[in-house]
Amino acid sequence: MSDTLADNKTPPGPSDGLAVLESRRSAAETYGIPLAVLLEITHRCPLQCPYCSNPVELDRGSTELTTGEWKKVLSELAELGVLQIHFSGGEPTARKDIVELVQHASDVGLYSNLITSAVLLTKDKLAALADAGLSHVQISFQGNEPAVADRVAGLKDAHRKKLEVAKWTRELEMPLTVNAVMHRQNLHQLPDIIQMAVDLDADRLEVANVQYYGWALKNRAALMPTIAQIEETSRIVEEAQARLKGTLAIDYVVPDYYALRPKKCMGGWGRQFFNISPAGKVLPCHAAESITGLEFESVRSNHSIAWIWQNSEAFNRYRGTGWMPEPCKSCEFREVDYGGCRCQAFALTGDAGNTDPACALSPRHEEIFKQAERESAASQNRFLYRNFAGGTLETEESRDNRQDNRNGA
Ligand code: SF4
Ligand code: FES
Repeated sequence: MSDTLADNKTPPGPSDGLAVLESRRSAAETYGIPLAVLLEITHRCPLQCPYCSNPVELDRGSTELTTGEWKKVLSELAELGVLQIHFSGGEPTARKDIVELVQHASDVGLYSNLITSAVLLTKDKLAALADAGLSHVQISFQGNEPAVADRVAGLKDAHRKKLEVAKWTRELEMPLTVNAVMHRQNLHQLPDIIQMAVDLDADRLEVANVQYYGWALKNRAALMPTIAQIEETSRIVEEAQARLKGTLAIDYVVPDYYALRPKKCMGGWGRQFFNISPAGKVLPCHAAESITGLEFESVRSNHSIAWIWQNSEAFNRYRGTGWMPEPCKSCEFREVDYGGCRCQAFALTGDAGNTDPACALSPRHEEIFKQAERESAASQNRFLYRNFAGGTLETEESRDNRQDNRNGA
């Protein structure tokens, strides 16, 4: 028998929710409600990172949920038993009501994390967020010095601002995670980035290799690391993890195209996490909207979030193992990685129901590995910057200025 929830489609009444999950002997009992949920409260952002995890079709400000709607979402999540929420974006502090939303999250008992580029924060605003009960701050860094970092972010003075905000975060005694997105054009800075995280007194460093969907897929040729870089990265991370044990926790995942087994993306589709988009769509992952042919329910619909999680077609399509083709279907790892990433399978094969080509058992694996090798060796270094206009190609002049700066010209 399939362990999807597809058979359980009776819409409950308006007061459904946790009670429904608890009272029915449904497959949803197996999954429960995720303990943590990512809220992309806006796609607006002053940065233009070429690997942004937002969809290429960004939600405009006019479509965003209102303050009242987000508060209702937060209350509903708390009622369901969600413990932690991540305020993300775009840049979440681009919303004027961010302090009010954090305060509401605290009022309903949610632990809140701010995932931020930091560039819009003042010390007073950060202090107001701390007073409102913000529990944790995660700042993204694009490098360890301005010449590389500001170029990748597409914003002058961004790096200096991030360092400043990281310092304030620790002064306000909030825990800090440094998120460093790594790729061919900044991997040479990894040892200095690790030291930067130590100097900033961060609790955790995420060495996050770029995941190639959406904007990053468009920029893959400019971002793909070489195998030599990845081997060196693994060595550097392992050495630092041992050396900094007890001082800095370091998370690291090998990039998909060079892995032999795929990552258990999102902990398995519809198993552990969900996202809510700026316009209120409830999504199994941040890139799910890139899969054409899936319809996503909205918090603006008549359904509760629990009903959407439990019953919606989009969540059930790839839940569990019943949907799997070979080689996953009879693979001993099918309940370990759940077939890898649906969005990557769609992006690379045109069918989200295929085995993720990051898996060495996929018939497409060899092909993507060779493509990665080819692209990493080519000299296509110009970025397509993320924006609401569908992207802007970096000028040769700005790229060359950056290279001059690095060379000390
Ligand atoms: Fe995972 Fe499927 Fe590959 Fe097996 S064949 S390791 S289940 S992706
Ligand atoms: Fe969507 Fe992996 S990013 S399933």
